[in-house]
Amino acid sequence: MLKYAMIGGGPGAFVGDVHRRALSLNGQADLVAGCFSRDLEKSRVLGRELGLDEDRVYATPEELARLEAGDIDFAVVVTSNEAHYPNVKACLKSGINVMCDKPFTHTSAQAEELVDMARERGLVLGLTYTYAGYPMVRQMREMIARGDIGEIRFINCEYPQGWLAEPLENTGHVQATWRADPVRSGGTLSLSDVGSHIEYLVPHVTGLRLTRLAARLDSLVEGRILDDNGVILTEYDSGARGVYWYSQAATGMVNGLKVRIFGDKGGLEWFQEDPDHLRFMPINEPARLITRGAPALLPGAMAYSYTPAGHPEGWLLAFANIYKAFCDTLATGASVDFPTGEDGVRGIRFMEACLESSKNNTAWLEVG
Ligand SMILES: NC(=O)c1ccc[n+]([C@@H]2O[C@H](COP(=O)([O-])OP(=O)(O)OC[C@H]3O[C@@H](n4cnc5c(N)ncnc54)[C@H](O)[C@@H]3O)[C@@H](O)[C@H]2O)c1
Repeated sequence: MLKYAMIGGGPGAFVGDVHRRALSLNGQADLVAGCFSRDLEKSRVLGRELGLDEDRVYATPEELARLEAGDIDFAVVVTSNEAHYPNVKACLKSGINVMCDKPFTHTSAQAEELVDMARERGLVLGLTYTYAGYPMVRQMREMIARGDIGEIRFINCEYPQGWLAEPLENTGHVQATWRADPVRSGGTLSLSDVGSHIEYLVPHVTGLRLTRLAARLDSLVEGRILDDNGVILTEYDSGARGVYWYSQAATGMVNGLKVRIFGDKGGLEWFQEDPDHLRFMPINEPARLITRGAPALLPGAMAYSYTPAGHPEGWLLAFANIYKAFCDTLATGASVDFPTGEDGVRGIRFMEACLESSKNNTAWLEVG
């Protein structure tokens, strides 16, 4: 059994509890320490609820990293974005492996520094780009790799949400407030919050490398400083093209991540709100609905399934799959497939390029 500490994820936090539940699903790691909040009393209250020893609940992440070094196998960083860089750094400095939520850092220089630190110290550094953990995303990836849709020509990926279609950040809403604050979020709102998932998912599924982009980032809600909607034109190393659309001002949308990939032999379509189904559209043949859990599913997708066919899976289990690969790596030293710090660096470079392109009238930029 591995032992881990959590930084962030305090009372009322959105995603920290999801990480804890996902980690408990595989029975691979126990939570033994935490600095869940900047407020020690709040951290203590949660620590008691979670059954932690009182002396393993810390006032600061730095203190946690210093005193837990050698006693834990990894730390999970699930704070608001501005605290990722200093907290991941404190852990790495103390020799602690880290799983951090996305977006990795505020700048690519910070992200590169952390990846170098991990490499020099031989530490494992992962990122929870959640959507890589879905079985049918795995199926899509394996079908593309074995050539089922032929050579990819066009990619269309969108991630619209509607929860910021009004200026929620002016109402005291905790998660909206820091996300809309340039100092805390890192210079983008919805690009870093949901656009980052698209950026990770497309190369993960297709194996293609993004080489050029042209971005237009907008603030659709009046008075908002940062982007809540954006469109990005893309080109890849193979010559394939694409278009990404992300939004948190798409009124009425909930969590509409959709990936559509078109090759010269067929197309694939996956929608996060119907995650157990993948639509395969071979050229000149009737479209087929591929369902999770069916015996003929490809091995990676099969390995990611928890429940029998027809019993829907989703977000929590996707986190659990990413953590399973991460914990397997820590336990066996084997190189297993989960999003890494290097992926996080690429993600921040992508965001920087989008911001620059948008500021320059949607100019085309090389990325790499
Ligand atoms: N992978 C996903 O699908 C996904 C989903 C939601 C959020 N996220 C990411 O998770 C992170 C957290 O988002 P959230 O919505 O849960 O935010 P949140 O505001 O709900 O929670 C953040 C928590 O971190 C704590 N915190 C902040 N700074 C701290 C510090 N220095 N030391 C200790 N605790 C500190 C806060 O007290 C709070 O408990 C963000 O980076 C976000 O982008 C990822």
